[in-house]
Amino acid sequence: MISYLLRDVRPYGEGAVDVRLAEGRIVEIGRALTEGDARVYDGEGAVLLPGLVDLHTHLREPGREDAETVESGTLAAALGGFTAVHAMANTDPVADTAGVVEQVWRLGRESAHCDVAPVGAVTVGLGGEHLAELGAMADSAARVRVFSDDGRCVSDAGLMRRALEYVKAFDGVIAQHAQEPRLTVGSQMNEGVNSSLLGLTGWPAVAEEAVIARDCLLAAHVDSRLHVCHVSTAGSVELLRWAKAKGWDVTAEVTPHHLLLTDDLATTYDPVFKVNPPLRTSADVDALRAGLADGTIDCVATDHAPHALEDKEAEWGAALPGMTGLETALGVVALTMVAPGRLTWRQVSERMSSVPARIGRLENGPQPQGRPLAVGEPANLCLVDDTLSWAVDPAASASRSRNTPFAGRRLPARVVATFLRGRPTVLDGKPASS
Ligand code: DOR
Ligand code: ZN
Repeated sequence: MISYLLRDVRPYGEGAVDVRLAEGRIVEIGRALTEGDARVYDGEGAVLLPGLVDLHTHLREPGREDAETVESGTLAAALGGFTAVHAMANTDPVADTAGVVEQVWRLGRESAHCDVAPVGAVTVGLGGEHLAELGAMADSAARVRVFSDDGRCVSDAGLMRRALEYVKAFDGVIAQHAQEPRLTVGSQMNEGVNSSLLGLTGWPAVAEEAVIARDCLLAAHVDSRLHVCHVSTAGSVELLRWAKAKGWDVTAEVTPHHLLLTDDLATTYDPVFKVNPPLRTSADVDALRAGLADGTIDCVATDHAPHALEDKEAEWGAALPGMTGLETALGVVALTMVAPGRLTWRQVSERMSSVPARIGRLENGPQPQGRPLAVGEPANLCLVDDTLSWAVDPAASASRSRNTPFAGRRLPARVVATFLRGRPTVLDGKPASS
């Protein structure tokens, strides 16, 4: 196996050093290291971060390989600096059995450009009526620890309680897509001034907040672990602050798109801006940024949701909700959080690597992820040029889908290299294999 010497890189954006990778690990960190037989990669002062970990990726395989595959989605992930992604369960067939999660896990092992941790469905077929075989998925080769009906809410309180109780046996977590279905019938966008002006059915903040409040109480009642997906409102941040103050084991994620975009974009009627939960107001965006900065929101997760052209390029009402996000996540976080001084690179690495890895129980797994930059740790790394801004070009994406809401925007900070256990998956900003 080739060893690499990364010259002139800045771990966590701090002082410049050289870093040697060998046998899949970081073996030496210091100044002016000798080359030996290593291949030298000149970092030119780039920021070195632990490989990013996504808790929320839709890879669409099995079932919608026209929109994304494990291969294409993980290449997009690697280009975005990720070394592990959690693959959401709303595939076809749904990942609700040990057989399906093992299939996704095996595809990851065979074809992926990063590690793939399958998420198991909470209920059979995402139907919301019967618990899936959570224990069998946990015991399978895929070692599932995160369970979610994402795309749909586990709205039945009794079922949610039983799911929270069930996963305690294997240290699992229920990742809830918080959306009270009775409050969002026919909803098309955020309920507010813009939905009134446009005459589109609104998705009110309370539909998210009511479920978060209920689930925090349920998790506390049975002393289990809850994770809240894609938090989108200021009120949700308040509820999480309350739950954390109580000492409850509740974590939450925010997406890059909810950190940057608002429901003003719905006035374009361009369905690339249709997403679930919907884009909210600038007051919500401010609260989400503040919550991510102060740790009330634990981590960033992409909710990368690729869609085929025919599903997305329809009129607003008919288009499916969802946006791609793996390749742009770090750039959007750099723009919204690092550039304004709200997060240091070290804090970004917590919120995009170590914390999501811990929530998904990957940090001590057989292939550890989210580990610190230190000698002896697995060489899962990304190198970020924070002096290079770039314009997002949907046509240049490695994803099979093109539905990025950031097309044409300039983002600061570009991923120039990614290493998975010492092997480059991305070099000079391009797939390492090509
Ligand atoms: O916008 C979304 N798209 N939100 C979800 O919860 C599901 C996702 C998808 O699977 O397309
Ligand atoms: Zn969701």
